[in-house]
Amino acid sequence: TNNRLILAFESSCDETSVAVVRNGNEILSNVVSSQIKSHQRFGGVVPEIASRHHVEQITYVIEQALTEADKTIEEMDAIAVTEGPGLVGALLIGVSAAKALAFTHDKPLIGVHHIEGHILANQLIEPLNYPLIALVVSGGHTELVYMKNNHSFEIIGETRDDAAGEAYDKVGRTMGLTYPGGAKIDQLAAEGEDTYNFPRAMLHEDNLDFSFSGLKSAFINTIHNKEQRNEPIDKANFAASFQAAVVDVLVGKTMRALEKYPVKQLLMAGGVAANQGLRTGLTVALTERFPDVKLIIPPLSLCGDNAAMIGAAADMLFEQGEFRGMDMNARPGFMF
Ligand code: KG4
Ligand code: ZN
Repeated sequence: TNNRLILAFESSCDETSVAVVRNGNEILSNVVSSQIKSHQRFGGVVPEIASRHHVEQITYVIEQALTEADKTIEEMDAIAVTEGPGLVGALLIGVSAAKALAFTHDKPLIGVHHIEGHILANQLIEPLNYPLIALVVSGGHTELVYMKNNHSFEIIGETRDDAAGEAYDKVGRTMGLTYPGGAKIDQLAAEGEDTYNFPRAMLHEDNLDFSFSGLKSAFINTIHNKEQRNEPIDKANFAASFQAAVVDVLVGKTMRALEKYPVKQLLMAGGVAANQGLRTGLTVALTERFPDVKLIIPPLSLCGDNAAMIGAAADMLFEQGEFRGMDMNARPGFMF
């Protein structure tokens, strides 16, 4: 039909989210309940706490998503949910809720890969044009994904150790910032300068892979040395130096990917796509080197985890006739 409504769920980590998406490109509602405050004092996401929050929140979030969209479950054409990857206990809450609704209301069920969701979030901004490359940067992923068409997701480069967001959060912790530190470092970086010249790992190697653990160690060692000498920590310069190293590598490798794979569009995806330095860096480099490639930058609300992106990806799967049965299960290690 040309008026397809999908009720979508996302619960892979620490956001409980339900959305109503029309035709894979229009958000009727996108309710996100964040649990970050409950995890902050532990400095990271605690799986058991995440599961409990999802259980407590999900029925309210479903109600709110339907109310905001001014729709009923009966009007939905399908129910979609993140199958994985993610925390198994967290995923199970979304998967169980989606299966229960699909079963009781006799609706088709669709299972979505979390990263495909992050990438397809861009379809809520503008129509996708293939072939394309997506730079996926989140707390758990750093990948360059090549899509020849809407059926194929090919990882052409990835991190060999830490994800970019993970490095941001660990470095943030060293500076005494509350979890997750990414956005705070981004803000601090705007007030500082790249005075430390941290390593740009693998930047000049002829491959599309990344490594952030050396940068993280260099950062932590430099801070500890200063602390030992009782020197003041210039947080803004530390943040700016760290961010410059991350952005140089992400932008450099993305440009290398564009040299190898001619594409029509470059998409940003995942929580770190919210990064101002990265947004500017990619925009500048693309204008200079590949002015014909269209850069799509999702708004902040679609960078982090949310269910609208799952609804967008699910619409494509509906089109392809990819449905799940009642034996669908959470897939914590779901590969592309
Ligand atoms: O996609 P996401 O919400 O969850 C995962 O699937 O991981 O990404 C969360 C990550 C966290 O590591 C967070 O620190 C990072 O995205 N992040 C940022 C910014 N905003 C969020 N990192 C750098 N700069 C930002 N502005
Ligand atoms: Zn995510």
